[in-house]
Amino acid sequence: MTAVDEGFAARLRSGTRDEHERAERSVFVEALLGGRLGREAYAGLLGQTYLFYDVLENAGETWRDDPVVGAFVIDGLLRRDALARDLAYLLGADWRVEPLPATRAYMDRLHEVCFTSRGAFVAHHYTRYLGDLSGGQVIHRRMRDIYGFEDDGVRFYVFDQVAKPKPFRDHYRALLDAAPWREGERDELVEEANVAFRLNRAVFEDLSSVYC
Ligand code: HEM
Repeated sequence: MTAVDEGFAARLRSGTRDEHERAERSVFVEALLGGRLGREAYAGLLGQTYLFYDVLENAGETWRDDPVVGAFVIDGLLRRDALARDLAYLLGADWRVEPLPATRAYMDRLHEVCFTSRGAFVAHHYTRYLGDLSGGQVIHRRMRDIYGFEDDGVRFYVFDQVAKPKPFRDHYRALLDAAPWREGERDELVEEANVAFRLNRAVFEDLSSVYC
């Protein structure tokens, strides 16, 4: 069986597995899940997350009517408003966040590639949203148990328009498999998803130097 026969979603998953493992083992992630960080570190994570989602979701608007990747622009996934509500709860109504250097680099990369390349947009979209619907659900439960957040503070992790994360992830993988990618686009997408993972890991590193 060739890599193509295996299905593109499976190839994307296996092609980013090493980077995923590294992201999961980040010092910041382990400290957060281990309950060793204060609420301000968690708010710091959401603040940085808001900044790159803002760019990613602006890029999504430009692809909404695209015949190849418009199907990925799913309103029920959008996180910007949920993040803004969490930040208002955690930091107060007049919250403001400044990008750490790695967040700035992540935002720059999103600006550079996601408004002009379909594949790059989906690479970044996949890395974040499928992650939030997977590991994000683990983080959600831990934050609830550690800090006692019920709805406020963890709205980012609650996809209330997605009935169940698992079938939705399967639907998303079917979209990845079915999209009529051009020759070479699949390879570029896997490559860019690895870039996306590395950018996320760099944000964790910056966060750990501030909070750990
Ligand atoms: C708290 C640390 C993390 C944990 C515990 C975790 C856990 C998981 C688990 C269990 C899955 C498999 C879900 C399934 O079988 O469908 C998964 C998938 C995924 N995670 Fe993570 N993850 C973490 C961090 C991250 C980070 C930091 C990112 C990227 C920013 C990420 C991106 C993804 C993606 C894109 C998938 C989908 C893989 C695929 O099926 O194609 N994860 N994660």
